[in-house]
Amino acid sequence: MKNPRLLLLAAITLCTLLPLHAQKFKDLAQTPPMGWNSWNKFACDVSEVLIRETADAMASSEMKAAGYEYIIIDDCWQVSRDSMGFIVADPTRFPSGIKALADYVHSKGLKFGIYSCAGDKTCGGRPAGRGHEYQDAVMYAKWGVDYLKYDWCNTDKLNAEGSYITMRDALHEAGRPIVFSLCEWGNNKPWLWAKEVGHLWRTTGDIYNCFDCINDHGTWKSWGVMQIIDKQDSLRQYAGPGHWNDPDMLEVGNGMSLNESRAHFSMWCMLAAPLVAGNDLRTMTPETQSVLANKEVIAIDQDSLGIQGFRHSVKDSVETWLKPLKNGQWAVCLLNRSKSPRNMNLDWSTFSVTDSFSIRTLDTKGKKFYKLRDLWLKKNTGDTRKPLKVIIPAHDVLCLRLFN
Ligand code: GLA
Repeated sequence: MKNPRLLLLAAITLCTLLPLHAQKFKDLAQTPPMGWNSWNKFACDVSEVLIRETADAMASSEMKAAGYEYIIIDDCWQVSRDSMGFIVADPTRFPSGIKALADYVHSKGLKFGIYSCAGDKTCGGRPAGRGHEYQDAVMYAKWGVDYLKYDWCNTDKLNAEGSYITMRDALHEAGRPIVFSLCEWGNNKPWLWAKEVGHLWRTTGDIYNCFDCINDHGTWKSWGVMQIIDKQDSLRQYAGPGHWNDPDMLEVGNGMSLNESRAHFSMWCMLAAPLVAGNDLRTMTPETQSVLANKEVIAIDQDSLGIQGFRHSVKDSVETWLKPLKNGQWAVCLLNRSKSPRNMNLDWSTFSVTDSFSIRTLDTKGKKFYKLRDLWLKKNTGDTRKPLKVIIPAHDVLCLRLFN
């Protein structure tokens, strides 16, 4: 094409057409994704044996029935690139290859996820995606990957939005619908730009397996459950079906007390957070399973409206969180952050709240009343015409569904 005008016209046409093609896969993650990821418990100690056994455990326990579906290998599955630049899985730890592993996970009726990073190397120092985005995306599609977590280490001077858009476009081009999970820790405020890029984005640095503390590593910090919750409340307007705030993976079953695990799990559900278990599913106690697989609490998280809950009030270390649900119902969770129990007398006769974001009102003052269901006791506990008297243990929650 020698005519410069025609060339310009062709370039303009291409530019206007590109956004039509380059997009994230729609219709995925209409409710927050649920699954398991290797990092919180196993860090770099991953292998095909672990992943197969975890898939077995998920499929045969109550976890799959409760809605968990993605089995995600985090960092350290990869060791090098071959002479053509294709990523190579660790042959000692994954001797059957990633395709065979994905097939196995699929054979259990589950979905398969993998990890990479936008930088030159992953956070664990393994080969990452920069400059190989299209090549990697084709490989993932061929292997049958359903979910990609994409990290942000070793990204010196890279532009976050641009980098994640490149990977989004590569995945789209490869043709297999893959949930795209941005793990950029909230550094570049992904909630402002990632709605059309990914299906979920991390809002904070890494979670630390502790209810209320910070682990200072010097150049970076990891955050306890309470510290993470405090970073979520201002972000709720950015979340919704297909695009979720991600306060990081769960630490339930990794050592916190039962009360703390219950509180951690309930709050993630109030936040409409992705529910990605991070414990050893093969050896989990019935107690841990009773938390992770509580369907009534999960239903709060998975409510199809996809409205993230909010902190309504704080009194004497007890926070009241509210979440609008479909059919005019509400979830109400009282979180006791203190180290001692709290006596609560919930007098509904004065309660009226309008959520200006979702434009929904919870009014228990007037003639209208709601029935109450305690989601951890799994039983109905009266209605809002009478005050509810309860004791909330230290570091625990009371979670209710209000329904008609
Ligand atoms: C970062 C992420 C973690 C995990 C590790 C792996 O720290 O935030 O969730 O993926 O990298 O190296």
